[in-house]
Amino acid sequence: MTYRYYSADRVRDKMPQFKGTDEELQSQLDKLDLLYRSAVKELETKLDILSDDFGKKHSYMPIHHVKTRVKTFESIMDKAERYGIEDPINNLDVVMKEIYDIAGIRVITNYEEDIYSMSELLLQHSDIELIRVKDYCKNPKESGYRSLHVVVAIPVFLVKSTEIVPVEIQFRSIAMDTWASLEHELRYKNRGELSEDIQKQLKDCATRLHEVDRSMSQIRHKVLSDDI
Ligand code: GTP
Ligand code: MG
Repeated sequence: MTYRYYSADRVRDKMPQFKGTDEELQSQLDKLDLLYRSAVKELETKLDILSDDFGKKHSYMPIHHVKTRVKTFESIMDKAERYGIEDPINNLDVVMKEIYDIAGIRVITNYEEDIYSMSELLLQHSDIELIRVKDYCKNPKESGYRSLHVVVAIPVFLVKSTEIVPVEIQFRSIAMDTWASLEHELRYKNRGELSEDIQKQLKDCATRLHEVDRSMSQIRHKVLSDDI
């Protein structure tokens, strides 16, 4: 038997309220899985190609690494409930329309400026539609969090249809990712609760890391101009 990322048996155990048959449920789960995994693959390939070409033209690779994930079905349903979508398991079409981060890509760039060069290059692709931008680099969150969040829609070509699939891309520099990963880990370890003092200290770390990020970028520009 082939392994299924989303299995109807498992989903049915937790969510017996699905109205259709097991086959119908499995077919919807398989479609969901195929669509979002394919959309992530397409975007990953696009970023890979852009990075290679950028490297050839400028002798510099702006992308440090890329991480991808598709939300588990349980996590999609939890988020749908939080978003107030009624009876989400029987309204998967609504869930897919309203939740933008079922598929997620994190692009970790070397410097902050690379975030903008890479996101702009990606958005020039004629098959990509821009849905939403949240620039937490220019306007950091209260926690100190910085990243550029871009939601795009990309076509996935199937045997009998073409589906337009949203994907959330988070662009961050290495320094921004360092802060976000460690802060997330600390918050998670503490079940989401951090004292005001700790939050303040973390925000201070975010500011200091941002200063280092800027300084490293200035050093890079100096080194590059000395080279010529
Ligand atoms: P939700 O996804 O429902 O939260 O809504 P949203 O997409 O409007 O929220 P937002 O734009 O804040 O993006 C949420 C994602 O950004 C989270 O899943 C995290 O990956 C990241 N994020 C946002 N704020 C923080 C933060 O303070 N710390 C860390 N570590 N990550 C954050
Ligand atoms: Mg989100």
